[in-house]
Amino acid sequence: QSLKIGLVPADGIGKEVIPAARRAIEALGSDIPKPEFHDLVAGFEHFTRSGTALPEETVRALREDCDAALFGAVSSPSRKVTGYTSPIVALRKELDLYANIRPVVSVSADPRGKPSIDMVVVRENTECLYVKQETMIHTETGREARATRLITERASRRIGKMAFEIALKRPRKLVTIIHKSNVLSVTDGLFRETVRGVPKLPEVAGRYDNVTIAEQIVDSAVYRLFREPEIYDVMVAPNLYGDILSDAAAALVGSLGLVPSINAGDHFVMGEPVHGSAPDIEGKGIANPIAAIRSAALMLRHLGYEKGADRVDNAVNSVLREGQFATPDLGGKSTTAEVLDAILKRI
Ligand code: NAI
Ligand code: MG
Repeated sequence: QSLKIGLVPADGIGKEVIPAARRAIEALGSDIPKPEFHDLVAGFEHFTRSGTALPEETVRALREDCDAALFGAVSSPSRKVTGYTSPIVALRKELDLYANIRPVVSVSADPRGKPSIDMVVVRENTECLYVKQETMIHTETGREARATRLITERASRRIGKMAFEIALKRPRKLVTIIHKSNVLSVTDGLFRETVRGVPKLPEVAGRYDNVTIAEQIVDSAVYRLFREPEIYDVMVAPNLYGDILSDAAAALVGSLGLVPSINAGDHFVMGEPVHGSAPDIEGKGIANPIAAIRSAALMLRHLGYEKGADRVDNAVNSVLREGQFATPDLGGKSTTAEVLDAILKRI
């Protein structure tokens, strides 16, 4: 029996951190089935070469040949490029990976330091403004741009269930719904009401009785996240708010280079560091590989390989605690390779 893992490094530092994550998986030996890696292409660089950002073969291989996958990052341009659409957004849809699960955890060497942060952002991954239905019209007073924001009961319910399931396994069992339904009472109103209603659904009867529900408007949620991050446990949010909140939470724990995620559906899981392709440090060999390595651990945990995941996480945490090997984003001078080596030794 083998574990077939698709690797899609894509652009920029994705090509530096995904190979590191692969090495961490390989180091686990018999704690997991023998890994078999499939190298797959996607991304903006591939688009400029071939005219397609997400080859059909990549989607097919993920669907048919792989048990799970790891994705690096894409360099999506901020201007409109004809024919280009972000492959990660497309993949999440194609594979129906409706939940983006982003644990943000601090590891502090100093017990008297800031309150320890231990939260999970559960981000809806298929709709909201990311349906990318944008139009532009010309009016007498200039151009007018519009975007459609889609919120469905079905997607809100399944992301809500995912958030409650995650909360059940955590000591505090607190779900905070993030929304802006004071202004967007129809769309965010539906999200808020649907998630609130999850514990009352007949099929889950009683299951979430011990879970506490709270809610917070998104702007003040960011404010409180910075002032008193310890109040949060599981935050569940529509796509865009979840994206913004998790980058903000990453700042609290020191770097985007530390925060992992998985894109999860009912039939497939894809690990992915929360950060982007980081063009400012690309090719310098100093990207922090920890977010990608932790994403591999999360992916393994989701597949049920707890022991392997624990070994990777423990190795990462001890390297962080010891502080001897750290990339520049954490104030250190180490390279990607040196941090990886330190982690591999501890695995
Ligand atoms: P970014 O996450 O790539 O970088 C933000 C800052 O964090 C940069 O200063 C970068 O050097 C630093 N950083 C990020 N990851 C790091 C790591 N592992 N080690 C050390 N430092 C790290 O976000 P930015 O600059 O806004 O976007 C760059 C490109 O990435 C854009 O084209 C954007 O579209 C894309 N992007 C892709 C994502 C994805 O593939 N899911 C997510 C976010 C952005
Ligand atoms: Mg983001």
